[in-house]
Amino acid sequence: MASDTLTVIDNRTGKKYDIPIKNGAIKATDLFQIKVGNDDGLVSYDPGFMNTASCQSKITYIDGDRGILRYRGYPIEQIAEKSTYLETAYLILYGELPTQSQLEEWTHNITFHSIIHENIKKLIDGFHHDAHPMGILLSTVGALSTFYPEAKNIFDVDSRHDQTYRLISKMPTLAAFAYRHSLGLPYSYPDNDLSNFLNMLFKMTELKYKPHPVLERALDVLFILHADHEQNCSTNAMRSVGSSQVDPYSAVAAAAAALYGPLHGGANEAVLRMLMGIGAKGKVTEFIKKVKGGEGRLMGFGHRVYKNYDPRAKIIKGIADQVFEVKGRNPLLDIALELERIALEDEYFIRRKLYPNVDFYSGLIYQSMGLPMDMFPVLFAIPRTSGWMAQWEEMLADADQKLARPKQVYLGAEPRDYVPMEGRS
Ligand code: CMC
Repeated sequence: MASDTLTVIDNRTGKKYDIPIKNGAIKATDLFQIKVGNDDGLVSYDPGFMNTASCQSKITYIDGDRGILRYRGYPIEQIAEKSTYLETAYLILYGELPTQSQLEEWTHNITFHSIIHENIKKLIDGFHHDAHPMGILLSTVGALSTFYPEAKNIFDVDSRHDQTYRLISKMPTLAAFAYRHSLGLPYSYPDNDLSNFLNMLFKMTELKYKPHPVLERALDVLFILHADHEQNCSTNAMRSVGSSQVDPYSAVAAAAAALYGPLHGGANEAVLRMLMGIGAKGKVTEFIKKVKGGEGRLMGFGHRVYKNYDPRAKIIKGIADQVFEVKGRNPLLDIALELERIALEDEYFIRRKLYPNVDFYSGLIYQSMGLPMDMFPVLFAIPRTSGWMAQWEEMLADADQKLARPKQVYLGAEPRDYVPMEGRS
């Protein structure tokens, strides 16, 4: 008879256990009861969380084998075509598309809280001229916690919502200030217009920088595509650090640090460096041979969850064409297309199900828009902040959640006596 349980026989003892299955999962703590004598009970060993769910979530759905991504049930293709980043952020956070008045209030909250304290500007001034803007971003967002002591009150839902829109609102300002600092340009202050971010980045002596509508929309769609991606490395950092009940600015600093790495949000920067390193379409075969021989990775390829074409990469390829029509073809595109062509036909990549991911083409677009490579992870962090905050709010409202504290399998020395210096060989 079928039942929602898993029967386990421990061959060490011959004992049989029935473990309940709920929503396709067993509780790891149900393994505690499987013991030999007085040991601590069975644990599951899972470095990198390859098959461990750390939470239940209603935000983002991914089917990696079929290349499906949905926010709150809506297919990413529809959202990318019809929505805006701010509306998407609202959807991710609150679970439903906003009504007209909800969207107006939300837009007001985001656009009217983008100013940062002048002392943060002084903090940025203290960074070296060639400081990586992602390092500046994660330091300054962490520093913001000291300006909002009330953010420590994470137990009040309204207070949490307030910090959420503050953070989403201030990240673009911190990012733009980091960029201007690296160029030695005066900071361009936020205004309450929605093209605010590009104005903060690119305004020179004109009264207001007017972005090309195609580029403005391209950036907005890229923000939509990066807004959330369920339990990725940085979101896991956000939840894990947030589970200690620290304020959200500190938790976002931790999440941004996780995003900085080349295997995660730093990959778009690494892709560009790789393409420039290859240098010419004719050298792609040689490069692929090196990757297959274990000399480095094909950056922008492969994903822990997608074992099919990343649906975000498909959309990004379309945006790239629009941007190149305005800005001219990025010469690195030919190398990227050749890499993709060869890799998708190559046995090594086919067998391992390695396809282009979101980062393979996004860097080419940013570069064509005039943004330097070290700004790429920063441009990932801005929209991902809405995902981090949604996941953080969901975690705090979830009675099942506890302080994140994984177990270990100890393989070290047995107890032994301290050896004084003169007795050591
Ligand atoms: N190039 C060459 N080989 C690869 C690549 C790659 N990009 N990715 C994975 N492999 C190979 C890897 O060597 C291993 O081979 P083998 O079985 O012979 O040892 C196999 O594929 C499985 O790799 P893994 O490292 O065990 O898989 P993972 O799920 O831990 O890695 C990944 C996922 C994204 C870290 C990895 O695919 C990678 O390093 N990709 C390049 C970096 C990148 O583009 N990252 C951005 C990810 S998408 C944006 C985001 O969400 O952050």
